[in-house]
Amino acid sequence: MKIAYVASEVFPYAKTGGLGDVAGALPKELAQLGHEVKVFMPKYNTFNEADYGLHYQWEIGSVLIRVAGRIHSVHVQKAYLPGTKGEKKSGVEIYFIDCPYYFYRYRVYTDDDDEDERFILFSKSVIEVLKRLNWAPDIIHCNDWHTGLLPLFVKDNYGHEKLFSKTATVFTIHNIAYQGNFSKKTFEKAEINPKYFLHGGDGEYYGGVSFLKTGILVSDIVNTVSDTYAKELLTPELGSGMNPFLNLRKNNFYGILNGVDYNVWNPETDKLIPFNYSKENLSGKLKNKKYLLEHLKLKFDEGVPVIGIVSRMVEQKGFDILEPVINELMQLDAQWVILGSGNHKYEEMFTRISVTHPEKVVLYLGYNDELAHLIEAGADMFLMPSIYEPCGLNQIYSLKYGTVPVVRKTGGLADTVLDWNESLERGEETGTGYSFTEFSGEALLNSLNRAINDFHKKEVWKKIQLNGMSKDYSWKRSAEKYVELYRAAYQKAK
Ligand code: ADP
Ligand code: GLC
Repeated sequence: MKIAYVASEVFPYAKTGGLGDVAGALPKELAQLGHEVKVFMPKYNTFNEADYGLHYQWEIGSVLIRVAGRIHSVHVQKAYLPGTKGEKKSGVEIYFIDCPYYFYRYRVYTDDDDEDERFILFSKSVIEVLKRLNWAPDIIHCNDWHTGLLPLFVKDNYGHEKLFSKTATVFTIHNIAYQGNFSKKTFEKAEINPKYFLHGGDGEYYGGVSFLKTGILVSDIVNTVSDTYAKELLTPELGSGMNPFLNLRKNNFYGILNGVDYNVWNPETDKLIPFNYSKENLSGKLKNKKYLLEHLKLKFDEGVPVIGIVSRMVEQKGFDILEPVINELMQLDAQWVILGSGNHKYEEMFTRISVTHPEKVVLYLGYNDELAHLIEAGADMFLMPSIYEPCGLNQIYSLKYGTVPVVRKTGGLADTVLDWNESLERGEETGTGYSFTEFSGEALLNSLNRAINDFHKKEVWKKIQLNGMSKDYSWKRSAEKYVELYRAAYQKAK
């Protein structure tokens, strides 16, 4: 099949969270399965194009796109996604939509007044570039709200285009909380047929426009990134107002768990960690722990567990339950290595404990890919107390690195981490981590205490580590499921 894969962030060019990881990996796996894939993303000025071999596409030339009544001249650069075995090129083409006016802002996402315009321009540009390439995709795979209007543009604005007469659209929700809801003005800026914005129309949401709702209702097939989250999204509690629309699409709405790019996240080959290791020989893990702690100026003690956190610091990630039990947490015989950035409230809480307990807490505020890898390799446990978690990748990376996840049982966390005690209750020793259901500090403390107790039982701990390290969440299986979705969408659109 021919697949145009469209995303606002793609690793290694731009990444603010898991979407970047997914968009950098799934297209390559689809290509491995024999499909022809072209990836599209905006060209931001957050990365150095010379590092990635981008080339201006003369044959495409300049593409004129009108947004909010203003005409922009858009150019296209092309590169190849890095190869799966570390080669420079994978053979999968990535097209960068280059419009400095909208995308040279030193950040991938902004709070600027024209955030809607940025992604209207991106979506329309992708369609125009496909036309210039004269390449008729069987599938346009859109991701998250940024691409939510694209299926509508294909269906309506470009409804007359022969090139797209058989093109189907698939829309993946990576996070329901980010909806791209804007005022009524956005209808005009995007030049969309007003019928979609009559009350109750596919694009209308509380009198304004919702990119996410549009994507949900107009795409041929919709999916999200784990089975449990797909079920949760149909409920008012976790559907964030989109549950009525998802319920309307129930027969065309699926959950497909994300995979992991084990070429990037694998302790046996990881180039960002000083000591590689495997489940056959875990000695490198301890060396990484020592390296991590010494470089962060914490005392190394093999017998004291290190709890790692690598996260966007936003409400979703559940750090609110730490505050009421922060003294108890600080009394645990453990060290903490925390990496992340986001809301002031959480940054402030973590800063406070790192200042008051410098002997056990180290905080790095910001984004640091190398440190993220080192924490996965050097920590003993990995904490994710999320309120909700569509899939979550860090707990899956943690499994591979023998870093035992302690998670709240929600969404993808529930689908990927099996609580050790729960497995024992079933008469098995198959657990891979610790999980709790109640969103409270007590429940979190209880799980951490269980984990710390077991950490001191060397044999038990190793069993849990090896259980996790033996799991295989490579992309192949998930990519095959996407191909099934594509086929279903293609049949529908025909
Ligand atoms: P989300 O997409 O909700 O942020 P995921 O667990 O799916 O959550 O993916 C997060 C990704 O972003 C992981 O690859 C993680 O390592 C990375 N990440 C998050 N915060 C940071 C940070 N401060 N520095 C480096 N990497 C980070
Ligand atoms: C979102 C979710 C995260 C998921 C990622 C990739 O950012 O918050 O759970 O893993 O997208 O799908």
